[in-house]
Formats: sequence, C-alpha cells, structure tokens
Amino acid sequence: MQNVTVVDHPLIQHKLTIMRNKATSTASFRRLLREIAHLLCYEVTRDLEVEMVPIETPIEEMESPTLKGKKLVFASILRAGNGLLEGMLDLVPAARVAHIGIYRDHETLQPIEYYFKAPSNLDDRLVIVVDPMLATANSAIAAISKLKERGANKLRFLCLLAAPEGIEKFTKAHPDVPVFTAAIDSHLNEKGYIVPGLGDAGDRMYGTR
Ligand code: PRP
Ligand code: URA
Repeated sequence: MQNVTVVDHPLIQHKLTIMRNKATSTASFRRLLREIAHLLCYEVTRDLEVEMVPIETPIEEMESPTLKGKKLVFASILRAGNGLLEGMLDLVPAARVAHIGIYRDHETLQPIEYYFKAPSNLDDRLVIVVDPMLATANSAIAAISKLKERGANKLRFLCLLAAPEGIEKFTKAHPDVPVFTAAIDSHLNEKGYIVPGLGDAGDRMYGTR
C-alpha cells in the first residue's frame, strides 16, 4: 500500500500478541504499549537529517552527528495516544508535544473534539501524530486537518493497529501524510471496532469501562 509502512519487527509482533490477549492486565498493557512505542519511534524517525557538530571527546576533537533542524513535535490524540507518546518521549525527550482531545461518538462514529493545545511554529517542524488505533480514521483525519489549519505541513501518522477501511479513507483524505503501523487487521465490525483488534485501547490502558 502506498505511503503505508508496516513495522513488523518480531519483538513488536510478540508484544502486540500479549496486548491483544484480553487476559492481559491494565498495567502490562500500558507497559507494552510504551515498549512498542520505542520500537516504532526508531522506524518513524529513521530518515531524520543529521548535521555534524564539533565536540571534544576525552581523547581528541571530532565532528559528530546530531539531529538537524527544529525540534520534533509529537501530537497525541487523547486518551490512548498518550500511551505511545510516553514511549516516544523516552527516546526523544526534547520533542515538543501537542495534545488533541478527540473521542468518537459511539453511535455515529464521528469525531468530537474537546481540547487542542500545540506548540507555535508548527510549519517549521516535523509533526508525528500518535494514536494506537486507526479504525474508521475519522479521529486521525480530524486531528491532522486541525494541525494543518494551524500551519503544520510536514506530518506523519503513527499507530499500533489499523483497519484496511481506515487506511483507505485516511490516505485519500491526507495523501501527503505517511502512515506507520505495527499491523493491519482484517476489518471493522458493525460497531466500528477493529477485528480481531485489541478492544478499546483507552479503556484497556486506563482500566475504565
Ligand atoms: C479511540 C482511539 C482513536 C479512535 C479511533 O479513541 O484511541 O482515537 O478511537 O477510531 P476511529 O479511527 O474510528 O476514529 P476513543 O474514541 O475511544 O477515545 P478515548 O481514547 O478518549 O477513549
Ligand atoms: N478505537 C479503539 O480503541 N479500538 C477499536 O477497535 C476501534 C477504535
């Protein structure tokens, strides 16, 4: 699929299997999501540009690479995006963070936005939007439209599980935004849940419901 990368490293597959299991505890689910975020972060940032800077090691002077350009922005779609966000920040602690509060109406599956806070100067920065689930894609499409309205023009979307229906809709709505996911599942059920999926990511992370 064009513009979609499936990051199916064996460690990710193994951890994802434990997350899918309904017997897995809330604490383990959160920890595994954070661990998978480390592995996904590695892939989604693989092609970042570096520049050489002069440093002095205890032995001698040298030119050594550092990340080039303005700080990255990680944009978390609340609530479940925060599970991925924490792991991403473990690896890139200097990243700026945007929070986008969106939940989907259980009847209509339409996104309801209730909060938005993002750094200024989004136009100068790579913005990586994170949410574990891409189901109908309504939430991700709305979040990215909002970021674009605020000036973001270099975006990526990172999730854990995607439905084929969601990927198709997302890539039509935002063809300029590459998608990174750990797996693409079979389909959406009549309630808009990913099958076989892992259930409601926010509820499983926080023990609600
Ligand atoms: C979940 C998930 C995504 C959304 C995906 O959030 O974290 O944001 O559903 O579904 P979609 O692709 O069909 O829009 P939810 O609406 O359950 O909100 P919550 O995390 O606040 O519980
Ligand atoms: N949101 C979730 O948390 N899980 C799904 O399967 C679909 C949307």
